[in-house]
Amino acid sequence: MDSLQKKYETDKQTWDECAETYERQIVGGHPDILAFEEFEEDFLDRVLHYLSAKQKRTIKLMDIGCGSGRLHIRYGAKTKSIAELAQSHPLVSLKMNSPKLAYDPVIATSLREVWGIDFSQNMIDLAKDKLQKVGLKNHLKIALTFEQGSAFELGEQPDDILPIAICLVNSIGVMQGFEGANELFKSMRRAVESAKGIAIISCYQQEYIESYGLGQYESTMDVSGQPIWMQSDTYASSQFKQIPKQYKLAHSKDNKLIVDVFDMHDNLIEKDHVLERDPDKTEQTIEIGDINTYSNYKSHWYSFKHIDQLINNNWEIQNSYHIKTQDLDIIRAEPAQMAILDFGDHLKDIFGLWNVL
Ligand SMILES: C[S@@+](CC[C@H](N)C(=O)[O-])C[C@H]1O[C@@H](n2cnc3c(N)ncnc32)[C@H](O)[C@@H]1O
Repeated sequence: MDSLQKKYETDKQTWDECAETYERQIVGGHPDILAFEEFEEDFLDRVLHYLSAKQKRTIKLMDIGCGSGRLHIRYGAKTKSIAELAQSHPLVSLKMNSPKLAYDPVIATSLREVWGIDFSQNMIDLAKDKLQKVGLKNHLKIALTFEQGSAFELGEQPDDILPIAICLVNSIGVMQGFEGANELFKSMRRAVESAKGIAIISCYQQEYIESYGLGQYESTMDVSGQPIWMQSDTYASSQFKQIPKQYKLAHSKDNKLIVDVFDMHDNLIEKDHVLERDPDKTEQTIEIGDINTYSNYKSHWYSFKHIDQLINNNWEIQNSYHIKTQDLDIIRAEPAQMAILDFGDHLKDIFGLWNVL
């Protein structure tokens, strides 16, 4: 088995095992991560609106590494109006509590399918359960579909529908290292090229690990484990769960973190335990961009230059954009970047208006 295949199998098992915790703690969690996800969704809404108005084809959204179906729920809900639903339908209360899920007639007219692929069957099962619970299973104008499989083996899309392939919230950083990232770029190109579609990869920048990454992973160490840049002590192993007592927000300069420590049976072992950063390992993390924890979680924050190289090596430069997302939204998207491949030259005008060319 080659090294990429080996990493793929190990990571697949890890994601299957952590699916539920990930969903509970990250998807519903850190304020900076939620803000960034909202930025990505708003960005995508604007692009969908623009494309709906500008071109005649209907759209298929392809969510690569779709996890628990964030986009399926969003766009499923947006294509169903409250007027069509019985008062007792679960989607009604969901929409009342979440204005971002309101009916959107423009998107409802043009978006035909949200298709998601993920290698973790548990993630897909979670997504399907969520759709079932909110009543987005049947009687829809839009198809909400999933496939268990590899992000690196996307098939070429037919040209009767405009494919928009998107890989969100630094998923590229957990897609099996540099080799995986390269395969992802190739695969997303293959998916959209002949149909003259669009591919978007949205991820954090290594340059922001110090101001965003360290605090984010420290604050969510009950999900991914204690980061290796925090001094190891008796509780670093996966025998214990350390629950942080606060979320460190962007630009926090705090080198310490207070946690409550629990054993695997949820018994409190120590209250207000103080963890401190190890200066050398912290420096190394910032320099290399690898996020590692004592329970073997791995991610990578790619530098702006590295994503540039991936674009140059795998995509057509004349059809590609590389955006610092802070140019669009400094509060919600300061630490991130987007690589965009636009074969049909669909986005030039809107990017001109946004001043990101
Ligand atoms: C950070 S999560 C993102 C989930 C979702 N896109 C969201 O925005 O909430 C990354 C997802 O990528 C999946 N994944 C990682 N490597 C993959 C691969 N090579 N092929 C398919 N899915 C993969 C994981 O199972 C996980 O669900």
